[in-house]
Amino acid sequence: MKIAVLIGSIRQGRQSHKIGYYLSQQLNDKHHEVEVLDLATISLPMLEERVGKHPQLPDAALKMSHQLHTADAIILVTPEYHGSFSGVLKNAMDYFSAEFHKKVIGVVGVSAGKFGGINAVQQLSQVVINIGAYCVPTRLLVPEIYGAFNEKQELVNEHTLRSSQKFLDEFEWLASAINGKKMATAS
Ligand SMILES: Cc1cc2nc3c(=O)[nH]c(=O)nc-3n(C[C@H](O)[C@H](O)[C@H](O)COP(=O)(O)O)c2cc1C
Repeated sequence: MKIAVLIGSIRQGRQSHKIGYYLSQQLNDKHHEVEVLDLATISLPMLEERVGKHPQLPDAALKMSHQLHTADAIILVTPEYHGSFSGVLKNAMDYFSAEFHKKVIGVVGVSAGKFGGINAVQQLSQVVINIGAYCVPTRLLVPEIYGAFNEKQELVNEHTLRSSQKFLDEFEWLASAINGKKMATAS
């Protein structure tokens, strides 16, 4: 499958990207075609108008639209900020609509504390439903992110290692089921 991993943290000294790149590598190892859409490297302005309505859509939005459109399934990674998901991720998501429609979306939350971004994940899951996507019921919560990876960027937290595998298994299962159905309907 073709999978897009959208990383919704651009903070100086950010940590959330680590789990995004880790999941991408895991999916690569399983022979999926993975594209990381890291908002820290994408110059996406604050939304003035959506794809399809903006008279002069920013190039970054046009490129992202194509990347999301061609993805079979998507993973969203967000830090928890003030009890919700990041503003930069919401701004990016608001550009798009059809790009998400009937796609399987896995949600990943990150926090420095013990709760793994549960509030961010709950609220982001609600948005995922509102954009007409299929939210993977198993969400990945990554607590205590500052100690979760070592200096070589290897995931060393046993709990997060196990929960990441469970999350990826569920994500792959649902994504392949929905994509199988789409292919069967198209043929
Ligand atoms: C503006 C801001 C608000 C935050 N609010 C919360 C919060 O509500 N709950 C929480 O568990 N962590 C909160 N944090 C800490 C994040 O969990 C922490 O920054 C973590 O490393 C994940 O985000 P990062 O990708 O920015 O590093 C907040 C951090 C920032 C910068």
